[in-house]
Amino acid sequence: MSVAKIEVNGKIYEAPITIGSEGEIGIDISKFRSQTGSITLDGGFKNTGACTSDITFVDGANGVLRYRGYAIEELCDKSNFLEVSNLLVNGELPSSSSLNAFADKIEEASALPEGIHNIIKSFPKSAHPMGVLSSALCGLSGFFPEKDYGSLTQADYDELIPKMMGYIKMIAAANYRHNQGLEIGKSDSSLSYCSDFINLMFGKIDDDVAEALDVLFILHADHEQNCSATAARVAGSAQANIFASMSSGVNALWGPRHGGANQKVIEMLEMIEKNGGDYKKFIEKAKDKSDPFRLMGFGHRVYKNFDPRAKIIKVYCETVLNKLGVKDATLDIAKGLEEEALKDPYFVERKLYPNVDFYSGIIYRALGIPTNMFTVMFAIGRLPGWMAQWKELLTQNMAISRPRQIYTGKNLRSYTSIESR
Ligand code: SDX
Repeated sequence: MSVAKIEVNGKIYEAPITIGSEGEIGIDISKFRSQTGSITLDGGFKNTGACTSDITFVDGANGVLRYRGYAIEELCDKSNFLEVSNLLVNGELPSSSSLNAFADKIEEASALPEGIHNIIKSFPKSAHPMGVLSSALCGLSGFFPEKDYGSLTQADYDELIPKMMGYIKMIAAANYRHNQGLEIGKSDSSLSYCSDFINLMFGKIDDDVAEALDVLFILHADHEQNCSATAARVAGSAQANIFASMSSGVNALWGPRHGGANQKVIEMLEMIEKNGGDYKKFIEKAKDKSDPFRLMGFGHRVYKNFDPRAKIIKVYCETVLNKLGVKDATLDIAKGLEEEALKDPYFVERKLYPNVDFYSGIIYRALGIPTNMFTVMFAIGRLPGWMAQWKELLTQNMAISRPRQIYTGKNLRSYTSIESR
């Protein structure tokens, strides 16, 4: 096995190297502190791997995204959200019988406990749907018997995981209906996951909208060790229950640097439109270090080339808007921003490209989804990925996540009375 040699205070330490199935190299420092008395530092974990994983492969330099080895482009073209969710969680494309069993379990969770409806209704209609989603998801823990999350069986995963997909769909739709002053209808097991969601939301079935949503959910389903998957993994590593762990994922996703960006993108595009549509002015603002304005939907920790999801969503934007007969000026502004940014040295040097959030909001808006629900849509799509990552962590029996630090505060000092300060 090859090793990395690291010299600390004149002494050479050998750290084993792990080489992944796509040739990625990881220096295993799991024994580094006990051998050297020192730790590594990496704010934001930009260069640190938290785990080995078989789930999703992202090649940021070449704009590649694969779920369990299948290219995202092929899955969008040939699969569907439920099948992709099952693939992410279980590792293989399901047989029709196991996919039906998965769908049946989702259907078993098609009615929320009354107490969860009460949690949703307890929020003001102005409450951000991500706060409601996080609360309701975690609240579900009160309606399920506690389990030892350190010894879950495959039967437990087969029970809990699809049910969570059923509950998140119901919570999102129930919150929307509450905010509209409407009651929620009943889930219809004869409909697909996305058609049922659309029907629960808007009280009507629209195959074009459901198909668009299915592709968007596939594109959002997982993205290896992103911020929210890490949050769900960290909570899961403490053996917190699945409701608390997935609620952790929702909370992290809410941030505007992460999943909250899709809402910020549309708000940015609307603001540019209101300001006369001069997007070039906003390119300059995004480059100005003294200006807090950032080009939302641009840039990515891993993709230093096109985000393949943004490419698919951009094409899909045109298709969906044409199919629905929707004209949206923000699409032209988005395309103008992209065109300008991709030839501007500031963005080119920093390898800043449109990410998954740049165009997705334009489709959500055309589908009739309110802007403040865009990140909830991201969460619905991402839930299977979070659960796949969470399940992998538990089945790998990973240690509790507990990073170290380098203390830079005050050295030992004595207490002084308030009179003397
Ligand atoms: C998602 O990780 C994932 O996989 C996430 C995700 C998923 O599927 O889970 O892909 C989903 O979260 C996509 C990202 C959505 N967020 C946004 O669109 C918000 C805008 N983007 C940025 O805030 C930023 O690009 C991040 C947060 C996405 C990435 O930040 P990094 O990797 O920490 O990079 P950085 O902030 O250090 O930026 C490097 C440079 C800096 O300039 P310099 O200090 O080198 O001069 O690029 C600049 C930044 O100022 N920069 C931007 C910019 N993004 C980075 N400048 C203007 N506008 C931007 N959008």
